[in-house]
Amino acid sequence: MDFVARTGSAATLRTDCAVVGVYKDGRLSQAALEVDAVADKTIAGLVKRGDFTGKPGATRLLLNPAGITARRLLLVGLGEAGKLDLKGWRKAHGAAVSALLGTGTRDAFSFLSGETVADAEIEVLARHAAEAAEDAAYRFDEMKSKPAEPAPRLAKLGLWVADRKAQSAAATGFAQGKAVAEGQSIARRLGNLPGNVCTPTFLATEARRLAKEFSGLKVSVVEQAQMKKLGMNSLLSVSQGSRQPPKLIVMEWNGGPKQKPPVALVGKAVTFDTGGVSLKPAAAMDEMKFDMCGGASVIGTMATVARLDLPVNVVGVVPAVENMPDGLASRPGDIVRTMSGQTVEILNTDAEGRLILCDALTYTRRYKPSAMIDIATLTGACVIALGHHLSAVMSSDDLLANELLRAGVDAEDRAWQMPIGEDYDEQLQSNFADFANVAGRDAGAITAACFLNRFTRDVKWAHLDVAGTAWKSGKAKGATGRPVPLLAQFLMSRAGVA
Ligand code: BES
Ligand code: MN
Ligand code: ZN
Repeated sequence: MDFVARTGSAATLRTDCAVVGVYKDGRLSQAALEVDAVADKTIAGLVKRGDFTGKPGATRLLLNPAGITARRLLLVGLGEAGKLDLKGWRKAHGAAVSALLGTGTRDAFSFLSGETVADAEIEVLARHAAEAAEDAAYRFDEMKSKPAEPAPRLAKLGLWVADRKAQSAAATGFAQGKAVAEGQSIARRLGNLPGNVCTPTFLATEARRLAKEFSGLKVSVVEQAQMKKLGMNSLLSVSQGSRQPPKLIVMEWNGGPKQKPPVALVGKAVTFDTGGVSLKPAAAMDEMKFDMCGGASVIGTMATVARLDLPVNVVGVVPAVENMPDGLASRPGDIVRTMSGQTVEILNTDAEGRLILCDALTYTRRYKPSAMIDIATLTGACVIALGHHLSAVMSSDDLLANELLRAGVDAEDRAWQMPIGEDYDEQLQSNFADFANVAGRDAGAITAACFLNRFTRDVKWAHLDVAGTAWKSGKAKGATGRPVPLLAQFLMSRAGVA
């Protein structure tokens, strides 16, 4: 979708659809008043008769509205007057695009920027409008023999701005929003593709394709034989029951000063998690194709970084494996020597994410990163704790944790900090190896983080558990592309561009 910013009046601007807001108490936005002044109080009339409530995200499309130049008029609910925030702003634009997708509208123009949005300048508003619009327009139909619905036609979204200066700020915001949305949609696609298509080999191929598309993005893949030499026995133990060879995908972007240590992003990519010999129950097991969403978010974020040509150094590391039950698969009680030298007793083969991440973290330390952030759909316990709204952050470094939390707020892709520490860590004790890969039901998300922390040593490290946020279940089943917005924001902030 193209985005443009310009000035003009809701009454006279030439567009397929003018988008104007109405608040919950019936109060009209600035643009709605402009329309009503020449349109015989159409909007006020609708509101008075109870035909439009202004509820957040509500929409109503009017065709051939009399008196104004636009071919259509879309009313969008903005919720309570004076309380419009970034979340409401995004919701309004998402709803507007959803309402227009099935129609003949090719270009629409939003006048919602005439309203005050809490704590947000036009650059930020433009960025979030673009992200919300692209998010609403996203479709995944490449596995259908024919597309389920007519292709979305909306090709352009305009945004009202007051003047030239605002126009150029909006252009910056649009570019950022489009780049974030692009990374997010790459992550969504990889997540949505089924386990028989999206294998570790497929992920490696897709990463290599991105390297071809973006000059400056370098991709290499550590293959199974090399992993053996490196002593990645823990990672290898997870994939040994699968016919699919494991891949460790390494993506490098060096946009920053040469000597500056990179930020490392390490993403769990279990392309299908059956649980292994500790087999999962059948119900909803299909959703374990999403168990590579952490890795997908790293791949997507690398694309965003490259698209924006960010002046930062970033290395993305994606351990990709499939977790299957098989004659060769690990059994509960098996003990492996990790790349770090520490030995782990695999008490549950379904706690496999940490088994691949520990070796990936050890490997990543060779880049001497200034921060190492892993992203993983790691525990069901995280979903119990935070539900599907917030990702969990756990870190040995409160400054890094705060930086990530802040990025989550700015990106509208929020996270919540959970503790780690010695008391939890002790739960990992094993009678036979240095420690076990599980620590009982209590505080399952935290003990998983404690396990990972044993492999980070002196590196500033944080862990994002995105088990509840990386995909949606039920009718809207599908990958969300989270936490690409959070990670992109984190890197944009470090680059000083947002
Ligand atoms: N990929 C799962 C975590 C998961 C489960 C995410 C359900 C989202 C929804 C992970 O590999 C796993 O199976 N974790 C186990 C760990 C347990 C055995 C300690 C879990 O959470 O049950
Ligand atoms: Mn598992
Ligand atoms: Zn898993």
